[in-house]
Amino acid sequence: MRIFVTGGAGFIGSALVRHLIEHSEHEVLNFDKLTYAGTLSTVERVASSNRYCFVQGDICDADAVRTAIAEFRPDVITHLAAESHVDRSIDGPGAFVQTNVVGTYTMLAEARAYWLALDDAAKAAFRFHHISTDEVYGSLGEDGLFTEDTHYDPRSPYSASKAGSDHLVSAWGHTYGLPVLITNCSNNYGPYHFPEKLIPLMIVKALAGEPLPVYGAGDQVRDWLFVEDHVRALQAVFERGQVGRTYNVGGHNEKQNIEVVRTVCAILDRLRPRADGALYATQITSVADRPGHDKRYAIDATRIGDELGWHPQETFESGIEKTVRWYLDNESWWRPLVAAKAAERRGIA
Ligand SMILES: NC(=O)c1ccc[n+]([C@@H]2O[C@H](COP(=O)([O-])OP(=O)(O)OC[C@H]3O[C@@H](n4cnc5c(N)ncnc54)[C@H](O)[C@@H]3O)[C@@H](O)[C@H]2O)c1
Repeated sequence: MRIFVTGGAGFIGSALVRHLIEHSEHEVLNFDKLTYAGTLSTVERVASSNRYCFVQGDICDADAVRTAIAEFRPDVITHLAAESHVDRSIDGPGAFVQTNVVGTYTMLAEARAYWLALDDAAKAAFRFHHISTDEVYGSLGEDGLFTEDTHYDPRSPYSASKAGSDHLVSAWGHTYGLPVLITNCSNNYGPYHFPEKLIPLMIVKALAGEPLPVYGAGDQVRDWLFVEDHVRALQAVFERGQVGRTYNVGGHNEKQNIEVVRTVCAILDRLRPRADGALYATQITSVADRPGHDKRYAIDATRIGDELGWHPQETFESGIEKTVRWYLDNESWWRPLVAAKAAERRGIA
């Protein structure tokens, strides 16, 4: 199939592009604006494939989207391009409304115009797959899990903009019959994760000998999923998912943030001990919490397991070990991003 990937130079989009080129026969068009969060170095190792091409473009630019779709003639659009960092959404929510809401509207409008002109067989086979987050469901207490029927209760500008985009996608399915799919996934981690996000931020700050800033008591709980498990789930959904359906994707790996940071420190102690013999955990420092910080997210991924046979292949222990090793082996990827102040504290409001 011909897969049009938006946001394919970012963290998850690039993992999807690499996966599709290396582990499938699909052809891939990577459509990405290359914002601060997107770098083509993430897809360098597949860029020479004759099944891969790249177009630099903005999902809010209808002409650019229309031209790229018309030339590539996709069977599937997987839509990942977004502003994705909660802290940045607190400082500057406008960009999130623009890219995540208006950009998704633009993608839907252009996808629909293209889809309407397809012949019946191609129309029936076409899919618009929207990639979203579990953060749209709000925050859980001590118990319970998010299912696909949990009502939406977004609480940050980021999650509100993603919730808005999910509703637009659903509306295009119900109102216009566009064959849509939505996935809502928990926190991802793994290679090429931009070093402003928790896990890579802790690795790069630990190695720099800087304080490891943990928000509040660090007792917020997230359900961590290795990014390569996520992209295997995405492929299962756009190839075999039921049109109009939502699938939750999660790793069954609930961890408090402080546990995650301590695990990163322990792996670094083993793989790259500090020169002075001290433990990296001594660098952990509590800082002011993120305003409106959600307490707990956890996914019930029963549906995608039962209906599509997807299950995560990595445990948190195996995935985090691979991730820390990747950052140790790939300093040339992240050092320039850190130098460009990716690792600064944001979102204090
Ligand atoms: N990271 C997570 O843990 C997580 C979890 C669940 C869902 N998601 C969703 O998955 C998607 C990808 O997340 P990510 O972590 O890879 O994000 P990311 O910030 O790493 O990458 C986003 C990519 O989108 C591109 N982009 C941004 N604005 C654009 C625009 N206007 N036009 C074209 N391209 C644009 C950027 O250049 C970048 O390459 C997002 O939709 C996000 O909401 C992320």
